Amino acid sequence: MMRLLALASFLAVCLAAPSPRASHHVVHETRAADPIDWQIARRLEHDKVLPMRFGLRQENLHRIEEMLLAVSHPQSPTYGQHWTPSTVVETFAPSDDTIAAVANWLTDAGITRERLRLSVSKGWIDLNATVGEMEDLLKTEYHVYSHEETGDEQIGCVSYSVPAHVQPHVDLIKPTVHFRHRPVSNRFNKR
Ligand SMILES: *[C@@H]1O[C@H](CO)[C@@H](O)[C@H](O)[C@H]1NC(C)=O
Repeated sequence: MMRLLALASFLAVCLAAPSPRASHHVVHETRAADPIDWQIARRLEHDKVLPMRFGLRQENLHRIEEMLLAVSHPQSPTYGQHWTPSTVVETFAPSDDTIAAVANWLTDAGITRERLRLSVSKGWIDLNATVGEMEDLLKTEYHVYSHEETGDEQIGCVSYSVPAHVQPHVDLIKPTVHFRHRPVSNRFNKR
């Protein structure tokens, strides 16, 4: 009886409401066009390391035009006052909330903070991650594609997902669905 009670309370805990951070995933990007002349050669090895880049949503992008006019229009009071590179970075830098939302998503998934690096422009979080880690995180599968004529190879996935509460903060994530349709090398010529 005690055992049954223990089991029942254990189950109750397990089945209780999901943790507040748990959030359903939404498809974030899907490959635009099916590759022609490229075949799936194999699943990408689980322990292969990918140089991942998580694009962070920038601030003030809708004001670019207005800002350009302010320095380029002769009648503008700020005509000719070009921006320093640091002003440009500051103006469009993602908000602290955005940086935190994406970093917390990754650390909640078990990736230690020391592995994350914020780019100088603050536009990206960089991370070397294994294929296994990314497939779990992005609810996707990576494949190696091989070009029929040249044997050129590239990796990619068809689509990937992110938690709904993170989506407003991420721009694109690479490498994922972005497919190079032309082969770079022509191995037949090299042989
Ligand atoms: C990822 O690994 C490469 C090669 O070892 C290294 O140059 C780069 O700094 C690493 N990037 C991060 C974000 O740790």
